[in-house]
Amino acid sequence: MAKTFNIAVMPGDGTGPEVIAEGVKVLNAAASKSGIKLNYNYYDFGGERYLRTGETLPDSAVKELKSHDAIYLGAMGHPDVKPGILEKDILLKLRFEFDQYINLRPVKLYKGVETPIKNKTHEDIDFVVVRENSAGLYTGQGGISKKGSSDEVATQLMIYTRHEVERCIRYAFEYTKKRNKKNCLALAHKTNVLTYVGDLWMRVFEEVGKKDYPGIKRRYENVDATTMWFVETPENYDVLVTSNMFGDIITDLAAVIQGGIGTAPGGNINPEGLSMFEPIGGSAPSHTGKNVINPIAAIAAGQMMLDFLGAKEAADSIENALEKSLASGKIKGMAACKMGMGTTEVGDLIASLL
Ligand code: IPM
Ligand code: MN
Repeated sequence: MAKTFNIAVMPGDGTGPEVIAEGVKVLNAAASKSGIKLNYNYYDFGGERYLRTGETLPDSAVKELKSHDAIYLGAMGHPDVKPGILEKDILLKLRFEFDQYINLRPVKLYKGVETPIKNKTHEDIDFVVVRENSAGLYTGQGGISKKGSSDEVATQLMIYTRHEVERCIRYAFEYTKKRNKKNCLALAHKTNVLTYVGDLWMRVFEEVGKKDYPGIKRRYENVDATTMWFVETPENYDVLVTSNMFGDIITDLAAVIQGGIGTAPGGNINPEGLSMFEPIGGSAPSHTGKNVINPIAAIAAGQMMLDFLGAKEAADSIENALEKSLASGKIKGMAACKMGMGTTEVGDLIASLL
């Protein structure tokens, strides 16, 4: 009997539903060719539902989601909802509730895709960012006092436990070893200023690397320099591990060097539990409903999901189709409105190559 996976699909806001529809199209094509079965349960959490009912992500839904093998998410963010509500109460709540402590963000320039960096090709841009995804500045600790007065005080704390740092760093070393390309792991932090939190990351990085991964080369860099080197010498990267906020910032930059935010997928991973896969670009409200948004990041997120679920053949077939479609030159650009075809046509093209 075909192996069956139960996927919770959360298309979300803006262009989320459009890109997820193409992702599902491609996932189905891959599944039917490789003898796996995908069952989907759709959930309408997001801005529209919030505006209608006041509900973001109820605890009952969190419970229900547990029975799935993975979550496939489009985008969260709505122009009529105050920033922070949907992001915190849906996206971050999912990450925290399911302890998805890794945000895996591959940065790969496919053949046929243009990078804004002069003289770099697909041979130069192929690395992975392992972003810590459950702690740091994202824990929501801190507060405001004397609000509105000239003495107002606001704090937002960067909190890391040894456990949180170590599990992330171990994951990154293990991932580098499995990837087996340059066997080099870089740590990006800010030890020259964050002498407490940065020091903890640095010590754990050195300890774990020395003791358990002597075959993996280690390199430390300050994260501000990382943004410069991503552009100047992307070929020097294999895997890079970093904390939550730094990872958030540098992966938007990384998305641009791999061809644009419309091409960048991410996996919110709990290696032992329920993981969630999403295109990392937002809900792009101005492009909504026009069939102009790039679905490639969502399709690539689907590929990551199958890979994580162990459906290797189906995952590889998506990667192949993606590669072929991009190398064909038929898709003219990666930015919204610049593809030379519509969102659904890009999905059709990739599905047809499976
Ligand atoms: C991302 C996003 C989120 C983050 C926001 C929407 C909360 O920017 O996934 O990169 O900061 O993690
Ligand atoms: Mn981000």
